[in-house]
Amino acid sequence: MTPSLHPLYLILAAVFVVTGLYFLHDRAPILMPCLLAASLIAIAVRAWLIARERRRRRDSRAVIDFEALRQKDAAGWADWLKLNVRGHDAVVERLIERLQQNLMVASPHRTLGAFLLVGPTGTGKTFLAELLAKVLHPGTDPVVLRMNQYKDHQDVFTLLGPPPGQPGYEVGGALTRPVLDNPHRVIILDEFEKCHPDVKHCLYDVLDRGQCSEKSSGRTAHFGACAFFATCNGGVESLRGIWADTKDPAVRAARARDAMAREGFEKALLARFDDIFLMDQLKAVDIAEIACLQLAKHWRQYGIEVSYASPEVIAEALQRNREFQEYGVRQLARLIQDLTTPSIEAARKSGARRVRLDLDAATGRVLVTEAP
Ligand SMILES: Nc1ncnc2c1ncn2[C@@H]1O[C@H](COP(=O)(O)OP(=O)(O)O)[C@@H](O)[C@H]1O
Ligand SMILES: [Mg+2]
Repeated sequence: MTPSLHPLYLILAAVFVVTGLYFLHDRAPILMPCLLAASLIAIAVRAWLIARERRRRRDSRAVIDFEALRQKDAAGWADWLKLNVRGHDAVVERLIERLQQNLMVASPHRTLGAFLLVGPTGTGKTFLAELLAKVLHPGTDPVVLRMNQYKDHQDVFTLLGPPPGQPGYEVGGALTRPVLDNPHRVIILDEFEKCHPDVKHCLYDVLDRGQCSEKSSGRTAHFGACAFFATCNGGVESLRGIWADTKDPAVRAARARDAMAREGFEKALLARFDDIFLMDQLKAVDIAEIACLQLAKHWRQYGIEVSYASPEVIAEALQRNREFQEYGVRQLARLIQDLTTPSIEAARKSGARRVRLDLDAATGRVLVTEAP
């Protein structure tokens, strides 16, 4: 609450004036200066408290540079995203297109968009949202909310902050506090279908008006520089049918909304999403490319560049992943670590900085040779 002008301070101000007059006319030379000093201190303390509270409640909207947002060139991000998120080129292109449109009209009264990413587990939904956060707001971490932890109606308070006096109110809301701290955020609502309907409802305001107030502090969080990505594992079968039937994105989106409504999402909520995307099962060739990317990334962490990995090494990784097929490529990074880490030590000992990797058919071990 902002401290209001308490009558006590009006009295103090009057005392200040009266004592000042007494002081000027040399009456009560000890008492009057003391009263004068006391009232001055009290007024200064009060002014300081008010200024501090104002600073604390400073509108996060003031921090957003909407002109800079409108100048952003999302089209330039597409290639980098397609390079890192394999097998979803069409999704990336349309997503970037929608985001660009929203960026061009960025304003305090709307978010930068809300997108529903639907697909089986381990196809890159969360990963795509995380990478988009890197390009949209470099240097700011995305807010990742695991919505399966919001299954109770009370969890609205976890998201928007418990009312004053309740446990955890100083910490604020899991959604609101990071945005109050820094309004340039990508917000990932992971496994969105799993949260309580009341939790979904409390997002209506945020998505509609681009703002909401934190229940703990009463401060308004502004989402004008935020993009929302909700991921969902349900409804894949229905969307597959729609995607096979129609290529027109607008028709797809409309039919996808109906399909997701049948999955239990409220139509009013679905209407607040700019678009729905299907990120379906990855093809074998995409998985092979992801294996190459992850292998290079893993070795780079140890300061070693992989200049070539033989098809046998990749095939071995894919073979091992087959056991975990139902998790998409979720286990692939770990399997690649298991497969190649024993060879890293040898490569480091030999001081190699660039290597090629081959598979020893007899032992199934990865052989490392220094590459030029
Ligand atoms: N299409 C993809 N391209 C590149 N890497 C991917 C892809 N899909 C998944 N991955 C890798 O697998 C990990 C887990 O994927 P994730 O995005 O969490 O899956 P989900 O679709 O279940 O959200 C990611 O961190 C990333 O390293
Ligand atoms: Mg995910």
